Amino acid sequence: MKILIILASTLILTGCFESEDVQIIEGNNIKLGKAIFEENCMHCHGKEGEGLIKEWKTRLPNGKFPAPPLNGSAHAWHHSPTVLMNTINNGGAKLGGWMPAFKDQLSEKQKQAVLNYIHDLWPQEVQRKYNQRFK
Ligand code: HEC
Repeated sequence: MKILIILASTLILTGCFESEDVQIIEGNNIKLGKAIFEENCMHCHGKEGEGLIKEWKTRLPNGKFPAPPLNGSAHAWHHSPTVLMNTINNGGAKLGGWMPAFKDQLSEKQKQAVLNYIHDLWPQEVQRKYNQRFK
């Protein structure tokens, strides 16, 4: 029984640590990230993450929020790389949103590349503030 508890808590702990390790690798695999973004994300978040709907803070007729911009003009850069990666992995369902989960749709390399690409879309000043806070 003791062993089971230890095993279970180790699993839970390693699960947490794994996702805490996410970092943005600046300038890395940007081309791949752009391609992944254009294929999987652009139709909701806009060609360069500018969003499709200006009023992204106003609910849609179905009660959901539009996809927010990811180009540094909205909230994404207030969240740590881990939180951003969790959204990419799990989508918005847990928070009552509708972004699909990409956990099993993209490889780890593709997800890391798309995260690096999103960071690359931000204005330099936003990148600087973000790096100061999260590096
Ligand atoms: C079907 C539309 C849709 C697609 C496709 C989509 N998203 Fe989203 N995304 C959303 C919505 C809507 C939200 C806000 C949370 C919610 O309501 O689910 C969101 C939120 C996010 C956030 C959090 C932003 C913040 O301010 O914290 C990130 C990061 C993100 N998306 C990245 C991506 C990436 C990367 C892809 C492609 C691999 C992608 N999204 C594909 C609709 C989409």
